[in-house]
Amino acid sequence: MSYLLALDQGTSSSRSIVFDVEGRIVAMAQREFRQLYPQPGWVEHDPRELWQTQLDTAREALQRAGITAAQVKAIGITNQRETTVVWNRRTGEPVHDAIVWQDRRAEPLCAWLREQGHAERVRQTTGLIIDAYFAGTKIHWILHNVPGAREAAQRGELAFGTVDSWLLWKLTGGRVHATDVSNASRTMLFDVRSNAWDEALLNVLDVPASLLPAVHPSSHMFGETDAALLGASLPIGGMAGDQQSALFGQACFQAGMAKNTYGTGCFMLMHTGGSFQPSSNGLIATSAAQPTVAPQYAQEGSVFIGGAVVQWLRDGLKAIQASAEVQSLAQSVPDSGGVMFVPAFTGLGAPYWNANAQGAIVGLTRGSTVAHIARAALESIAFQSAALLQAMNRDVAAAGGVPVSELRVDGGACVNDLLMQFQSDLLGIPVVRPRVIETTALGAAYLAGLATGVWKGTGELAQQWQAERRFLPTMERSEAQARMERWEHAVRQTVAV
Ligand code: G3P
Repeated sequence: MSYLLALDQGTSSSRSIVFDVEGRIVAMAQREFRQLYPQPGWVEHDPRELWQTQLDTAREALQRAGITAAQVKAIGITNQRETTVVWNRRTGEPVHDAIVWQDRRAEPLCAWLREQGHAERVRQTTGLIIDAYFAGTKIHWILHNVPGAREAAQRGELAFGTVDSWLLWKLTGGRVHATDVSNASRTMLFDVRSNAWDEALLNVLDVPASLLPAVHPSSHMFGETDAALLGASLPIGGMAGDQQSALFGQACFQAGMAKNTYGTGCFMLMHTGGSFQPSSNGLIATSAAQPTVAPQYAQEGSVFIGGAVVQWLRDGLKAIQASAEVQSLAQSVPDSGGVMFVPAFTGLGAPYWNANAQGAIVGLTRGSTVAHIARAALESIAFQSAALLQAMNRDVAAAGGVPVSELRVDGGACVNDLLMQFQSDLLGIPVVRPRVIETTALGAAYLAGLATGVWKGTGELAQQWQAERRFLPTMERSEAQARMERWEHAVRQTVAV
């Protein structure tokens, strides 16, 4: 029997999962690491901790699975995206802590880029909007703020990588400096149309090309691990950013197939096939995980406050003691009683893009109770996700494409049946929960297995992927539309005065 080992390096923890060739979970290990907040708006991770926790979980997962490394056919890496590491090629030491995707320090540079009129070029080349979220301006910050870094970069002594590249470098004992298209597409330096670094953007951000990793498809023989690390030398056959990896792990391989991950926030991605189409509706166009050299794209939108609204019910409002209590509290009333909750705690993301919006609870009456508010909070996750899907469908319609006909779901909150049913009711399409909800890690295992001949192609994976439950819409479309209108009305109340 052979196995695949998926390394899932996320924002709050490093996880490793062993899968069998049927795509079933055999064993799992997880370790948290420190979140560093050196200044308001800044978020950092120590790259050495990312590596050490990842290595520890890989060893532990193999041990728990009761297998040796020699039984592992290949490793797949998936990772928190955009988080930026710059290290010295000779010593392997980072020159600064990793700047995490959530970090806002590069916003002044982004404002300058917008003022200089670069937005349209960035959109047409990279599919992105200019934002401090992406890696390019974080690299610029490191090179211009760490003493000597810019000069060292110009001498070719430094390497940049998103977390996948950093782990690959460490796993291969510093022999391989590479990334995949899905991670490269999050740098704001990568031309997703030609799958190559964009010289003009490198110049604008003053990033020397010598810093950059080689870019490959997501399923590719990236390198072999140093045998001393896990007890055998293992091929690394897959790498993809976590959201694109989840899209792949959900077997969404064709245009019009979409997934939503319900975590602290929500990430919705829709496959758009082989043609690149920048969004006209406030979304991001990005490279999907690529099993071959043929370019593949996706539309992406994110909800900032998803499951985090349940944490607020618990910690802010003290309406519940544990997050799991939200479903029973929300279910104790038949509906939200007209209450609408817009959790714009950190502004509103796609498709609204209002950084100044503030949260609001509207539609309160004397009959409103904490149960109605809990229900409205849960429903807000579905409303925000529905607004994203509607924006995606508008882009699709403009390009003459296929609208989304079902939504595949994963992430912690997808276990909440009430939420999934309401999501399906709002969207008017089936919401499908898979048997394996660890789809991020599964995607990386799939990519690694494809590169090493475990599976022949995506057709085989599509057959293997199985639904656990399908939530079918039961609400009248007119009722769903009326509710969406009430939601949009509530959103308009959140704009700060
Ligand atoms: O773009 C950021 C995303 O990749 C982070 O995902 O699951 O580590 O929070 P996660």
